[in-house]
Amino acid sequence: MSDTGAQQPGKALWHGRFAGAPAAELMAFTASLSFDRELWADDIAGSIAHVNGLAHVGLISIAERDAILAALQTVHHEMADGRFVYVESDEDIHTAVERRVTELAGPAGGKLHTGRSRNDQSATDVRRWMKRELMAVAERVVDLMDVLLQRADAAGGVYLPGYTHMQRAQPVLLAHHLLAHGWALGRDVDRLLDALERIDVSPLGAGALAGSSLPLDPDFTAAALGFAARFENSLDAVGSRDHVAEALFVLALVGVNLSRLGEEFVLWTSDEFAFATLDDAYATGSSMMPQKKNPDIAELARGKAGRLIGDLTGFLATMKGLPLSYNRDYQEDKEPLFDAVRQVSLALSAMAGMLATVTWQPERMQAAADAETTAATDLAEWLVQRGVPFREAHATVGSLVQRHLAGEGSLRELVAADRMLGPDAAALVSPGAAVARRTTPGGAGPAAVAEQLARFRRRVAEWREAVASDVR
Ligand code: ARG
Repeated sequence: MSDTGAQQPGKALWHGRFAGAPAAELMAFTASLSFDRELWADDIAGSIAHVNGLAHVGLISIAERDAILAALQTVHHEMADGRFVYVESDEDIHTAVERRVTELAGPAGGKLHTGRSRNDQSATDVRRWMKRELMAVAERVVDLMDVLLQRADAAGGVYLPGYTHMQRAQPVLLAHHLLAHGWALGRDVDRLLDALERIDVSPLGAGALAGSSLPLDPDFTAAALGFAARFENSLDAVGSRDHVAEALFVLALVGVNLSRLGEEFVLWTSDEFAFATLDDAYATGSSMMPQKKNPDIAELARGKAGRLIGDLTGFLATMKGLPLSYNRDYQEDKEPLFDAVRQVSLALSAMAGMLATVTWQPERMQAAADAETTAATDLAEWLVQRGVPFREAHATVGSLVQRHLAGEGSLRELVAADRMLGPDAAALVSPGAAVARRTTPGGAGPAAVAEQLARFRRRVAEWREAVASDVR
């Protein structure tokens, strides 16, 4: 009979209160097994901790504990080997594991779910999954930063135009440009680590919403699962998903940062720029045009950011207005989360490979950077150093640029002939002069960039340690 508590294959977990079986359409619409199978190892780990917790407070005997633990071990092997047989009534991973444990452990299996709800169970599983997977994402971000560091270090004195408004502005060292992306990614690592602190809380013991009349010990299970703390409020434990939204935001931001890095490589590898050439292994061809070599990784890094933003905004819309505590809407937390982690991970690895193998075209970069007009700011500053108010210096050089663009001569000649500037200033209008003069700490010139490189190297080592030490 059903009221022995033992679950029977083919029946829903909650069949006791129902006279009839669930409709096929209900199962088709509400089942989550197709995607929450991803949580199988975390679900089993959560059950192991829960069962140990039940024995710890005397709710089950040692023999019962051991029977359930042995069954959980078997389920683990079956799932790890892909031998596990799901049945039609397995609406989610939690149901599937419990059903199989009950088959294997006999009556003791019926005690597995004592004092527990799928509400605290699934919330626990997801947090445990997030701790591992987000740390792995953070590690991949550091891997990409490492590539940027290596390429910046090896770039030496190569320089290119820095741009504002996509117009050539002032020359910058290539290393400086690469490290700009590196620092942004470092802040993403900080954000991931920060989010992980809020994720690292165990909801197990909150039950369906209010805790239990049984003498559960949520601190015990939190510690057993390696969580830093247990929940403070049971309604909040099962009724909040802000940690998922926060993770989706950080993942979307990583995606946005990768899209910006990708866009630069789309530009740089174009025939118009030709600042860089992709390695064959990290470029794609055209099915029709034999000459093509396309930057598809960079483009998809750009494109996938849209989907990652969708994962975030879609889930925020799901959360909006939900009353406490658990609502089935929350089942919708998993697909965007799994998708975002997977897509960001793939993008990070592909971008790291592309960046590690790209060949620079320094002559093209430097020829673009050595356009005479990129020395204009330095000419104005040369006058400032001789006491000319900056506004007046700006106007003086501006009118020379205007005459140069009108075809009156090269900027260098016009500067040499100018009453205020003259031949000494004209020396600034020569290849490589402008980048060498950028001396501000944190600026784009050689001495400042050498110092920045050393600082970045130190920070990458710290980030590397932070992502390695936290892996559980
Ligand atoms: N699959 C469900 C989820 O992910 C498990 C919780 C179901 N709880 C319930 N009361 N129906 O949210």
